[in-house]
Amino acid sequence: MAALVIICVVLLVVVIAVFYLGTLFGSKQLSRHVLFDVGLIATDGNLPDITAAGSLHGFLLKLHTKYGHVATFWYGKTHFVSLASAKAFKDTNKLSDRPVELFEFMKPLFGPSSITYTNGESWKRRRHDYDQLFSYDAIKNYNSRFYEATDAVVAKIESLPSDEHINITEHMSLLVLKSLSHATYGDFFKDDEKAITMLRHYETTMAVLNQDISKNAEAGQKFAQALGAWHDFMRAMIQHRRDNPPSDDDWTFIDVLMAKSSSEEELISDASTYFFAGYHTTAFMMVWTFYYMCENQEVQEKVYKEIIEVIGKDEKVNHVNLESLKYMRCVFDESIRCSVLAPFAARVNMNADMVVQGYTIPKETPMVLALGVVQTDDEIWPEPERFIPERFLPENASTRHPLSFQPFGFAGKRKCVGHSSFGHIPYPIAKPYLMDAVVCNS
Ligand code: HEM
Repeated sequence: MAALVIICVVLLVVVIAVFYLGTLFGSKQLSRHVLFDVGLIATDGNLPDITAAGSLHGFLLKLHTKYGHVATFWYGKTHFVSLASAKAFKDTNKLSDRPVELFEFMKPLFGPSSITYTNGESWKRRRHDYDQLFSYDAIKNYNSRFYEATDAVVAKIESLPSDEHINITEHMSLLVLKSLSHATYGDFFKDDEKAITMLRHYETTMAVLNQDISKNAEAGQKFAQALGAWHDFMRAMIQHRRDNPPSDDDWTFIDVLMAKSSSEEELISDASTYFFAGYHTTAFMMVWTFYYMCENQEVQEKVYKEIIEVIGKDEKVNHVNLESLKYMRCVFDESIRCSVLAPFAARVNMNADMVVQGYTIPKETPMVLALGVVQTDDEIWPEPERFIPERFLPENASTRHPLSFQPFGFAGKRKCVGHSSFGHIPYPIAKPYLMDAVVCNS
């Protein structure tokens, strides 16, 4: 009997101690649940579930529906935490380091020296050097190149018979490719032929990469060939720049890269990375925006009316009058939100444990910031699948947590290059030249 009393007292003390310590530190240990029964965790983890869901974003939607805003999953052999609320995002907003595991599949393409796989001082140095080329002031200098590319596309579309189907994807891909490459790599891309060759190399490389080159020898060989052609093309572009150096006030991204890169490999890797990161996002943004405007004719009418009222028919959009096109800005935001253009970012705290929404996350644990899950959360966005640009009018946006919509990332100083460069106009390069195309099509 005495022994029973002692055991009960000891248990009571332990329970009280645990409870007391819990409230004292105010944090929960991260629960280690996994969404599905993945069998042997040491093999593929949740990768089959990600494949079944169609994408990592699709998987994260399911994960967070089931487990709430903070959840974990196995990306292969790596245990990830996924965060999907504005408040959870806020707890991470000082982190700049990125866990490389999640982007490993792009390594053959970007190269191991790419900024994508770089953290700490080396990453800081590169962003410091490169960001100035995407600053608000720098972008102004690219306007004439954007107009040139836009005029060419507009002329092409206008020359088509009025009943002919317009392949917007093709036109927008070329428009973005020409604008982006010309602005970042200089006049090597002035003529269409080079831009088209570049697009073909890019498409071939991506198509083969998607066939899982690590498991398929034939695909691996094709990929090596395609990548070789891409690298030759990049080298030709760099050589052209060396042979034709620009004047001091005409420097672009490639000139800074050439001056600052610590090796030829780093130079090619970052030149490729910036192109890949900027091209597909911006091109898809344009395509989706046209798609939603086609689906919502009244939105297209309103955009057109605003342009005519604010700028007039004969003026071009520029970095100054752009700010007055407020409805158009809402249309872009809503297109980016609905299409979930860039579904996630990722961070890791290499130095210390941290607390996110009451959960202790051990240091070095990779974290996914599920931007797309938050962008489509029906508690924030009623009827999230509907395209409603008015959600972004100031009177409607002001009630939302600012981190509810961060399609360019937000944490540390690592948000998208295309975003941070615009200062008070938080957009990448696409806007100025889109306008002409919209006016023309209406
Ligand atoms: C609508 C267009 C775009 C979207 C939605 C977008 C989105 C993003 C997102 C979500 C990230 C991750 C940020 C983070 O980790 O916090 C990112 C990174 C990046 N973006 Fe963009 N992006 C766009 C356009 C561009 C353009 C035009 C460029 C280049 C000119 C670009 C270059 C990059 C680069 C280089 C990074 C990696 C930066 C680093 O590791 O420090 N992006 N982007």
